[in-house]
Amino acid sequence: EWNADNVIADQVEAIRDTVGDARVICGLSGGVDSSVAAALVHRAIGDQLVCVFVDHGLLRAGEREQVERDFVQSTGVRLVTVDATKRFLGELSGVVDPESKRKIIGREFIRTFEQAAADLVREAAEDDAEVRFLVQGTLYPDVVESGGGAGTAVIKSHHNVGGLPDDLEFDLIEPLRTLFKDEVREIGRQLGVPEDIVARHPFPGPGLGIRIVGEVTAERLDLLRAADLIVREELTATGVDGEIWQCPVVLLADVRSVGVQGDGRTYGHPIVLRPVSSDDAMTADWTRLEHELLANISNRITNEVAGVNRVVLDITSKPPGTIEWE
Ligand code: XMP
Repeated sequence: EWNADNVIADQVEAIRDTVGDARVICGLSGGVDSSVAAALVHRAIGDQLVCVFVDHGLLRAGEREQVERDFVQSTGVRLVTVDATKRFLGELSGVVDPESKRKIIGREFIRTFEQAAADLVREAAEDDAEVRFLVQGTLYPDVVESGGGAGTAVIKSHHNVGGLPDDLEFDLIEPLRTLFKDEVREIGRQLGVPEDIVARHPFPGPGLGIRIVGEVTAERLDLLRAADLIVREELTATGVDGEIWQCPVVLLADVRSVGVQGDGRTYGHPIVLRPVSSDDAMTADWTRLEHELLANISNRITNEVAGVNRVVLDITSKPPGTIEWE
């Protein structure tokens, strides 16, 4: 019978054997997989692990704090945060096309991570230590999808992430390679990873950058963050967040509509709610949320978020619509 304690014990031993006295780097995204992978490796080798968290400025409200404060407090990992907001916003300036946004964000993410990794390699060299491994939160379904065997191996050798330079080549440690998402969550709980992280909905790597239809700017991000936070608060308060797959909140930054608020006419932006039910994100159905809940969300967003005067509900399934708007 499957048992989280046994899996943890086995992996801890395997990781210690593999790593020896080398140092290990792990990129944290704030999501379930990388957080649990990091917590597991930390359980095995303590401060030989350093985690790197890139804040690209496209995160939701509270996400950075969740990693820097809650995750670090509960696991004790060594964390380096790179604040790359200016860099990302600079590169995204004037960009509207969704695929261009994705490419730019992906490219800058790798560059930023590379620089942080290079710093850690140098720092280790000063202590006569070597950074030899990179942790990745690859799950069993990812392995199957990419055609790899299941096995019990902790290591898939000599892959480098998105083309790191040769002198920055690491072996991969993938301690979640044989596990399904539910099992990963269970292991995370066992390791004391905060429930907010363990139960988190999927959130795309390019973050809020692909939830603003139009150019990404600091002001628009602030506005979307405020609306998104309200939606998450209301979904949590009613317990619905545990039932749905995810609920992207999208700002139609290039669309305006006329409204009337307080004493006068407004000309603001719509916010789109995209609640979906799904098993694997390959297909999805739009979730029939309670009207009371929708009314609360709509009232709160239009009252509390300046610049938004309309809230609309996306009632498209996937296919034909994708879950994200971009
Ligand atoms: P779509 O929009 O393709 O999304 O129906 C399917 C699932 O994937 C997530 N998603 C992404 N995740 N990087 C990610 O890490 C991305 O670029 C990305 N695009 C979409 C989306 O949130 C949904 O769960």
